[in-house]
Amino acid sequence: MKATAKAHTNIALIKYWGKRNEELILPTNSSLSVTLDGFYTETSVHFNEELEEDVFKLNDEVITGIAFDRVTNYIDLFRDYTGKKNIYAEIDSINKVPTAAGFASSASGFAALAAATQKALQLDLSDEELSKFTRRGSGSACRSIYGGFVEWEMGEKDDGSDSFAIPIAPQDHWDIRVAAVVVTAKEKDVSSRVGMKRTVDTSVFYDGWLESHSKDLADIKEGINKKDFEHVGEIAEANCLKMHATTLGANPPFTYWQDTTMTVMQTVQNLRKKGIPAYFTIDAGTNVKVLYLPEDEARVLQALKETEGVTEVIVSKVGQGITYK
Ligand code: DP6
Repeated sequence: MKATAKAHTNIALIKYWGKRNEELILPTNSSLSVTLDGFYTETSVHFNEELEEDVFKLNDEVITGIAFDRVTNYIDLFRDYTGKKNIYAEIDSINKVPTAAGFASSASGFAALAAATQKALQLDLSDEELSKFTRRGSGSACRSIYGGFVEWEMGEKDDGSDSFAIPIAPQDHWDIRVAAVVVTAKEKDVSSRVGMKRTVDTSVFYDGWLESHSKDLADIKEGINKKDFEHVGEIAEANCLKMHATTLGANPPFTYWQDTTMTVMQTVQNLRKKGIPAYFTIDAGTNVKVLYLPEDEARVLQALKETEGVTEVIVSKVGQGITYK
């Protein structure tokens, strides 16, 4: 009753931004991501009959409070599914994600947790079923089941049975790079979950976001298929800007950007003016991810590191899907 799984984070090129069902985590739109090899979570789950509740350790520290509740409530889904109500686990997670720097760890975290839990329970779930379970922990996590380029199909059914991720192109399809740019920033005060809900409920721009979404998705899939970097970069950057625009139309309005976020965006635009194809995308936070091609790595990294307010730049290649130990 013990298993260990490793999952990588992903960055959305076409964003998931809005739920139609909060409890089942069903999105209002499909999304598309690339899995990153630079950031991962490795989690062991050990079901032990002597335990009277779950124990969750993150980077060797026992976790209590909200973070613990989120994990134990999540494992309840598996307890319900198997009918094994009174069996608890020791969960040991190591995060190779700089969470302190504001990088989301929930995608790799829930993907590794779901995979290790199902393996420890010997459920032998298909990737599709595993993606659905992972989705219930955190929406974006359902894309971290696979390496390479991944689409989360929103589905239509009320029970979520058709809402899961599928691979679009494997890890070795295309060697693009993603630089994660860490900027000096204050702690964010609107979480992605809260910001997403406020946007869906109140943003006057939300309909515009939904309207343009299917075209962005169809176009970027074609671009990935043809390995047309400029086309893919342009669509990803524009889709990110549209997502962030919806937050300005919310009530009360908010933004995840800080001054350095915009300075990095300008660095990327300046690189393009010099003929280097580089594009940015930003999740629900201050940090910027920059897409570029391997041959431009030296010039892109130099420009990013020289940008005022940038504290660290971490390079990722396209990453792999779930692996078990
Ligand atoms: C902006 O997956 O963290 O990163 O489903 O509420 O856990 P929950 O949200 P989460 O939201 C991610 C939003 C995003 C875009 C994306 O990854 O597609």
